[in-house]
Amino acid sequence: MASTPTVKLASGDAMPLTGLGLWKVPRDVAADQVYNAIKAGYRLLDGAADYANEKECGQGLARALKEGIVKREEVFIVSKLWNTNHAAKHVEPACRKSLSDWGVEYFDLYLIHMPIPLAYVDPAVREFPGWTVSGKDGDETRTERSPVHLTWGAMEECHAKGLARNIGVSNFVSALIIDLICYAKVHPAVLQIEMHPYFVQQGMIDVCKAYNIHMMAYSSFGPQSWIELDHPASKTLPSLLTLDTVADIAAKHKATTAQVLLRWATQRGITVIPKSSNPQRLKENLDNSTFDLTEDEIKAISDLDRKFRIAAGSDAKINIFA
Ligand SMILES: NC(=O)c1ccc[n+]([C@@H]2O[C@H](COP(=O)([O-])OP(=O)(O)OC[C@H]3O[C@@H](n4cnc5c(N)ncnc54)[C@H](OP(=O)(O)O)[C@@H]3O)[C@@H](O)[C@H]2O)c1
Repeated sequence: MASTPTVKLASGDAMPLTGLGLWKVPRDVAADQVYNAIKAGYRLLDGAADYANEKECGQGLARALKEGIVKREEVFIVSKLWNTNHAAKHVEPACRKSLSDWGVEYFDLYLIHMPIPLAYVDPAVREFPGWTVSGKDGDETRTERSPVHLTWGAMEECHAKGLARNIGVSNFVSALIIDLICYAKVHPAVLQIEMHPYFVQQGMIDVCKAYNIHMMAYSSFGPQSWIELDHPASKTLPSLLTLDTVADIAAKHKATTAQVLLRWATQRGITVIPKSSNPQRLKENLDNSTFDLTEDEIKAISDLDRKFRIAAGSDAKINIFA
């Protein structure tokens, strides 16, 4: 069975360097996907309330636990606080709702999904509100006055109560990280951000290294994940999976281009969380640490940098403090 190396977080907890991404995994297959991934050797599952599949992912986990394939403490489970729950009083209930959906007592890591506070939506009214609330002219995106330091304080409460062994942030820029460090009583364990050869993020890597914050990369295959959303950015640059630079390096190592893209991150100590619905690709992705790239190869891949960010949620049409 494939396995993956781990890294030590600031808290001392071990976290796998490769995990499974759960965004866009449809509800009707999510349980099987999580179960099969655990069977294939995955020990890190990257979920979020906004992915609207945590209950089903939890069912897959429960099956694996019941069959004795893993023990709870052997699986590193990540969830994320959605934007509509940034007000301090909503953080713990949101965390508890995700815990209940997963059917677990604690998360290994709970992240603020984005530094974008949106107007609260009662889950009884709409369980997965996404980006919009009902406005007078139909659905609209509306912010609310919930500054990060208050949200972080409530995240620290979740940590203190044992609901989250580690807490961290996602989609934060370096200025926000530096600000957070000024007041955080609990050290942010992880920053999860978009990172691939078209968006190398060296500045963020340097900041995280300086503050001992572990980095977790999403969308490791660049535009690939965004094709199914018909996102304009997915058509702007050629696929990283077929690019000559990557393909030549892959051929030298008898690896696939996907493995090279993942190894480019994991070899530098950055966790990856590729999503795949295909059993062969699932295994291939987990097996990304069986070879080492040379420094020149890492540089050749990093030189593909276009400072090209694809995920730009904050570009949504937003009604500021409406
Ligand atoms: N914090 C955030 O705001 C945020 C944002 C985006 C993503 N994430 C997290 O990061 C995870 C991964 O990012 P992502 O979903 O954007 O994209 P990704 O893992 O970079 O790409 C997924 C796409 O690549 C394909 N793929 C997977 N393995 C492959 C392989 N070996 N060869 C060729 N194609 C392959 C998948 O298709 P198949 O399924 O058919 O294999 C799917 O179309 C998400 O699931 C989520 O957990 C977090």
